Amino acid sequence: MRIPGIREEVVEKLRFMFEPNSVAVVGASRDPGKIGYQCLRNLVEGGYGGRIYPINPNADEIMGLKCFPSLSEVPGEVDLALIVVPARIAKSAIEDCVRKGVKAVAMITAGFSEIGKKEEEDEIVRICRENGIPLLGPNIVGISNSWKKCNASFCQSLPYAGRTAFISQSGALAIALIGWTWLYRVGLSSMASIGNKADVDFSELILYFGERDEHTNCIAMYIEGLDAGPEFIEACRRVSPKKPLVALKAGKSERGVAAAASHTGSLAGAPLIYSAAFKQCGVIEVSSLIELFDSALALSLQPPMLGDFPLIITNGGGAGVVATDAAERYGIPISDSPPDLAKSLRKYMPEFGSAKNPVDLTGMGTADKYEGAIREALAHPGVDGLAVLYCHTAITSPMKVAEAIYGPYSELKNNKPIVAAFIGGSECEEAASWLKERGVPAFPSPERAMRALSALRAYGRIRRRFGG
Ligand code: ACO
Repeated sequence: MRIPGIREEVVEKLRFMFEPNSVAVVGASRDPGKIGYQCLRNLVEGGYGGRIYPINPNADEIMGLKCFPSLSEVPGEVDLALIVVPARIAKSAIEDCVRKGVKAVAMITAGFSEIGKKEEEDEIVRICRENGIPLLGPNIVGISNSWKKCNASFCQSLPYAGRTAFISQSGALAIALIGWTWLYRVGLSSMASIGNKADVDFSELILYFGERDEHTNCIAMYIEGLDAGPEFIEACRRVSPKKPLVALKAGKSERGVAAAASHTGSLAGAPLIYSAAFKQCGVIEVSSLIELFDSALALSLQPPMLGDFPLIITNGGGAGVVATDAAERYGIPISDSPPDLAKSLRKYMPEFGSAKNPVDLTGMGTADKYEGAIREALAHPGVDGLAVLYCHTAITSPMKVAEAIYGPYSELKNNKPIVAAFIGGSECEEAASWLKERGVPAFPSPERAMRALSALRAYGRIRRRFGG
C-alpha cells in the first residue's frame, strides 16, 4: 500500500528493526531444512547479544532455547518480530504482534501481492499501520546489522562488517551479494531486503540510514521500481548532502522492464525518468552490480573529490593509458601535472619516466619511489585526488607497494580521496585486501579504480550543489 507521505514516526521506529534488543522468530522450526530454523540459527550463531525468542506452538525448545507457543506468552518486551510462518497464518501472527506490543515486524513469508493476493497483503498492512507497527516486506530474506551482529534473515551469514547500508529490492540478490562482501571486502553496516515493500518504503529506509544510523557512511540500493517517487526524491534530497547514495536501477531494457514486472510487480517505468530523478536528488547512478559495489566501497571509505584534478601514478604505461581512457569515459578530466609538481616527481623516476599525468614511474618503480611520489602528490595543493596503479613486477612486491600507499595516506589524512589498482595474481589480491581493510579502496583493474574515483568525484559535485 503506497505510503501517505514520509512517516517520520516510522523512520524513528526503524531503530527497533535494525538495532533490536530482542528478536522473536515467529515460525522458528525444529527442522534444519526450513527457513524458520535457519533464521534462528543465524541469530544464535551470528553472535547476536540481545534476547532471542523462538515462537512455535508445536515445540518446547530449539537449539537449547525455550519455545513460546505464541508471542503473547513471551515474558519480556519484543522489539522485532521476524515472521516465518506460511501466508495462511500470517494475519493471525500479526494480530499476535499487536497484542504483544511488538515494536517492528519483518515478514519473510511470501505469497501475497506478488502472486495477486493484494487484498490479504493490504489487510496485514492495515493492521500494522493502525497499530503503529512498521512492517518490512512481505516476501523478503530478512534484515541484518553487522555491528549489532544481528542476522535476522536466511542469508548464509552476516555480511563483512563495514559502512554501507544496502537496500535491495531483490531478496535473492541480497543473499548472493553477502558472499561478495566477504570476497571483495566491501563492508556492510546493514542489509535490508524490502520485497513487496507493502508498508515501509525506500524513502523511510533512506532517512533511517541517512539520518539516524551512525554506522552507515553510504547507502547503496538495488531498485527495480518505485511506488512513491516524490517521497524517494524528498528523502534523497535530505540525505545526499550528508551521506552518498548510489543506485543500480534494474529493468531498463525492454525485456528487463517485463522481467521486473513479473519479479516484484514493479512498474519499472521509463529509464530516462529514473536517471533524471536520480540527478535531481543527488543519487549516483551506476549500471552494473560490480559498479554498485565498487562505488559503495569507495564512497564508504573515502572523502569526496572536491576539485577536478586527479593524478594517476603508475609503474606501467599501459595501465596508465587504460586508466586515462576510463577517466574520459567517466567524465573525469585528466590534465598535465603542474610544473612544480612535475619537477618534484622527477626525483622518483628514471630519465625515461613521465611526470605528466599519468605519472609513469616505469618498471623501475619500487615501493620507495611510489611512496615518495604519493607523498608529493598528496601534499600538493593542486591535486584533488589520487589513483595509484601497480602492475606486478619482479622488482617490487605488491604488499610493499600497498604499504607505500598506506604510509603517506594514513599520515597526511588531508581529505583527498585515494583509490588503487593492483593488476596481477594472488599476491596483488592480498595486497588489495590489506589496503581495503585499512580504508583504501583497491581494485584488480585500472578501469574499476577510475570508476570508483568517478563516484567520489560525482559525490564531490553533489556536495557542492546541495551543500553539506
Ligand atoms: N506460530 C508460530 N509457529 C508456528 C505456528 C504459529 N501459529 N504454526 C506452526 N508453526 C511452526 C511450524 O510447526 C513449523 O515448525 P516445525 O518445523 O518445527 O514444525 C514452523 O512454524 C514453520 O511452519 P511450516 O508450516 O513448516 O512453514 P514452512 O517452513 O514450510 O514455510 C515460510 C514458511 C518459509 C514462511 C514459507 O511460507 C514461505 O513464505 N517461503 C518463501 C520465503 C521467501 O522466499 N521469501 C522471499 C525471499 S526473497 C527470495 O527470492 C530469496
